Amino acid sequence: MDKAQQDALKKAAGIEAAKLVTSGMVAGLGTGSTVRFLVDELGRRVKEEGLDFTGVTTSRRTQEQAESYGIRIVNIDDVDHIDLTIDGADEVDKNFNGIKGGGAALLWEKIVAINSSKIVWIVDESKVVDTIGAFPLPVEVIPFGAGHVIKKFEAKGYKPVLRLDAEGQPVRTDENNYVVDLHLGRIEHPEDLAQDLITTVGVVEHGLFLNMVDKVIVGDPNGPRVMTNSNK
Ligand code: 5RP
Repeated sequence: MDKAQQDALKKAAGIEAAKLVTSGMVAGLGTGSTVRFLVDELGRRVKEEGLDFTGVTTSRRTQEQAESYGIRIVNIDDVDHIDLTIDGADEVDKNFNGIKGGGAALLWEKIVAINSSKIVWIVDESKVVDTIGAFPLPVEVIPFGAGHVIKKFEAKGYKPVLRLDAEGQPVRTDENNYVVDLHLGRIEHPEDLAQDLITTVGVVEHGLFLNMVDKVIVGDPNGPRVMTNSNK
């Protein structure tokens, strides 16, 4: 699939998901190229249909885009609930275990997700996999002592790589932390890995989102299809 085809599938999933947002809702807005299409469509609906909702964003990037459309964005601590969060994902398997954080927003994404009544992911069909792990697993790490955390990951065979920007500097998250990507290939026991990562001192959060999502809207050449998680 070339990039234009993939973008068309992402856009179709984003437009489909935008239908789930209704006036009066508090909606969590994720991060990434698929979510950009979602926010474009929500912006259109705000302007053309008078859609009136409140958004909580998972990154400053999404906040800027949403506000450029006049969407009202508030701080997560200024709402007592989030009705629905729509976000992208890097991989998802049939057990609804996923990897997120390709856009370095995994910490805010997880905080918004766990405070949401419903979670919907929007992906193109290439993200649906049998076993997660081919996509490098992002881990958000405090800069102080990050080198030692990376050495510990190396010793465990996690194949860590500190994420760098185009200038060769460490990528900084919205919380000013680093991202270390683990090149695992296959993650056979995601719960065990999640436990190991979150109990490593210096790790703030990891990109394993295990059985958290309610529905996945998959951009498919035959039209968007929905995977529903009945085990949540
Ligand atoms: C950002 C994320 C994104 O949702 C994920 O990387 C998918 O991005 P895209 O829609 O650009 O493929 O987790 O941290």
